[in-house]
Amino acid sequence: MTEIKDHEFAKFQSFIFDEAGITLSDAKKALVSGRLAKRLAHHKLGSYSDYLKLLHGRSEPGEVQIAVDLLTTNETYFFREPKHFDLLKQLAREATQQGRGLRVWSAASSTGEEPYSIAMILAHTQGSLSWTVLGTDLSSRVLRHARIGQYQMERASNIPTEFLRNYCLRGTGEDAGTILVQRELRDRVQFSQVNLHRPLPALGQFDIIFLRNVLIYFNNETKRQVIQRLLGHLRSGGHLLIGHSETLNDINSTVRAVSPSVYMKP
Ligand SMILES: C[S@@+](CC[C@H](N)C(=O)[O-])C[C@H]1O[C@@H](n2cnc3c(N)ncnc32)[C@H](O)[C@@H]1O
Repeated sequence: MTEIKDHEFAKFQSFIFDEAGITLSDAKKALVSGRLAKRLAHHKLGSYSDYLKLLHGRSEPGEVQIAVDLLTTNETYFFREPKHFDLLKQLAREATQQGRGLRVWSAASSTGEEPYSIAMILAHTQGSLSWTVLGTDLSSRVLRHARIGQYQMERASNIPTEFLRNYCLRGTGEDAGTILVQRELRDRVQFSQVNLHRPLPALGQFDIIFLRNVLIYFNNETKRQVIQRLLGHLRSGGHLLIGHSETLNDINSTVRAVSPSVYMKP
C-alpha cells in the first residue's frame, strides 16, 4: 500500500478544513490514508500527491465531494442521547396544546436516524398539526441513504416498539433484515445539502435545532462561526441541542444553558 507522507497529510488537513471546517489532528494520518486508498486505486494513482493534484485540478469535478464524503465521520443511531427526545416530547406537547406545529432542524443529520427519530416523536405528539423536520448534511452520500430511509434491522433496536409498529415497515424477500421508514413519515422529512462552514441558504426560523456530534470536529473559531450562523435561524425562545460530550463553554455565545447540552435563545 502507498504510504502517505507528512507533507501530503498536511495538505489533506488543509483540504478538509477549507471544505468542511473540520480540524483533523495529526493522529488521524492512518485514517486519512486508509479512507482515501481506494480512490488512489480507482484512479490508478501512485501517490497521495497525485491524488491531491487531481482534487485541485478540473478533470474530475465530482472527486471533491467523494473525498469529503470519505473524510467525514457519519456514525449515528436512532434515539441517540435519549434525554433530548424526552425534552422534544415535552416541547411538542406544549406546542400541541397551543395548536402550534414545531419546525425542527437536524443540522448534521448523517444517514437520517436523527431526523426520523424526531419525526416519530412529532407524528406521535402533534399528529396532523403542520410540524416539519429538515435534515441537512454536507455529505451527499449520507443524504442519499437518508432519503431512502431503509436501515438494517439491528439499527432499529432503540426505536420504541410502538413507533416501530406505527412508522416502520419490516422488509420481506430481498429486503428481509431491514426496516423502511413509512412513506407518510418520510414525506414529512425534507433533506438537503447544507455546509455549516459556509453562509447558510434561506432556511427560515426553527423552534428547535439539533446540532449534535459535529462540533467535536471543529476548532473553537469554526464552532463560534457555526453557532452564530445557526442562531440566526433559531426563533427567540427556541432550543439548541448539542451532543452530550460537546460544550459551548469556550464559545462566547448569546444562548442560555438550560442543562448540559441544551441551550435556549433568549
Ligand atoms: C457523527 S455524525 C452526527 C450525526 C447525528 N447528528 C448524531 O448525533 O447522531 C456528524 C455528521 O456531521 C456532518 N458534517 C461534518 N462537517 C459538516 C459541515 N461542515 N456541514 C454539515 N455537516 C457536516 C458529517 O457529514 C456527519 O454526517
